[in-house]
Amino acid sequence: MTELLSLKDITLPADAVAHLLDEMREDLGKGAEHSRTLPPESYHSAAFFALEQAKVFRADWMCIGHVAQLVNVGDYFSIDIVGEALLAVRSAEGIRVMSRVCLHRWMPIVEGTGNARGFACPFHSWSYGLDGQMLGAPSMEQANGFSPKAQRLPQIRTEIVSGLIFITFDETIGSIGERLHDLVPLLDRYHLADLAQALTLDYDCDFNWKIAAETFMECYHHSSVHRRTLEHSFPGRLSSIGEGGEGWSICHQPLRAKGELSEILTPGLVPFEGLAEADMRQINLLQIFPNCLLGMDPDRVSVTTLLPISAELTVWHRVVLVNPAAKAREDFPETMARMQERGKGIAAEDLEVNGIQQRALHSAFAKAGRLSHLERTVWQQANYLRSRLID
Ligand code: FES
Ligand SMILES: [Fe+2]
Repeated sequence: MTELLSLKDITLPADAVAHLLDEMREDLGKGAEHSRTLPPESYHSAAFFALEQAKVFRADWMCIGHVAQLVNVGDYFSIDIVGEALLAVRSAEGIRVMSRVCLHRWMPIVEGTGNARGFACPFHSWSYGLDGQMLGAPSMEQANGFSPKAQRLPQIRTEIVSGLIFITFDETIGSIGERLHDLVPLLDRYHLADLAQALTLDYDCDFNWKIAAETFMECYHHSSVHRRTLEHSFPGRLSSIGEGGEGWSICHQPLRAKGELSEILTPGLVPFEGLAEADMRQINLLQIFPNCLLGMDPDRVSVTTLLPISAELTVWHRVVLVNPAAKAREDFPETMARMQERGKGIAAEDLEVNGIQQRALHSAFAKAGRLSHLERTVWQQANYLRSRLID
């Protein structure tokens, strides 16, 4: 009998991914000078995607947003990740994340973002408090032994690190705060926990989540894909990959040597206080594995959460954070409009290439490709996946 992998939503033959894991095993322990990509099939195989969902996303910490999205008691946002409909809320006791699937007949109790005193399910009006406690369920008095008081929406293990909200479905893994201990001083330099939400952007990406992360984390493609936008001020060849740490990687993207600060700063924004000269002249790109991407400019930080839908579909949810002093300025709406336009233009350049890349990697001739030192972050992500997927 075929051995079966038991994953949450899918049962599949183990040998559907065995050859991919074997190929990945060949690169275990190799130095960066031998680096190459993962097998192209790992970017479109439904079986490999199911394995990633089970052993990476559902089994590790995932970022779902930032505390600036939940400033006041009652603020909430909904988020769908690895097939789970979740709700993040600021209740009187602090931020909590829970399932938003109604305990009656599974309707999500709320969608989108807002501020509320509680939630009433749109299907049959069962109601819940900000802490997920059921408050009422109409016409249920004949249901023997049923008590709303005894019901609560399932609570998800949550940790907040420098304002980033992380969740995990695994009760046993170690703290994400401890794992990111060495990264926190860098995040603190940007006052990450205290920044204000400026805008949010969502993109539907017709490509695998790994492609989205890889493209964000390397500047090797600037001289071609972004030759009319980023390359002049941020030449890809000047970028460098840092050491990173357990669970994260970093790419530094410096301003050209003779570049003016006006090329990196956004008019209308306010630079973060106390940044060193080097950070005033570079953008730090960070990936906290698997799904959190941070773009750290001297006057704004973008937090991108990757939400994989299928092997070939990913939602890219971005929150842009700024110095609260910028938000208080009268011209803030115009500043945001300008920033949004520019951001969209650069994102469109990446999205177009990545969509084409996704379609082409189905080719029978597509093989793992060798990597430049300028894209070592691609290798680091592959190392992270090897460590989680290969027994
Ligand atoms: S499904 Fe929510 S009240 Fe019926
Ligand atoms: Fe890009």
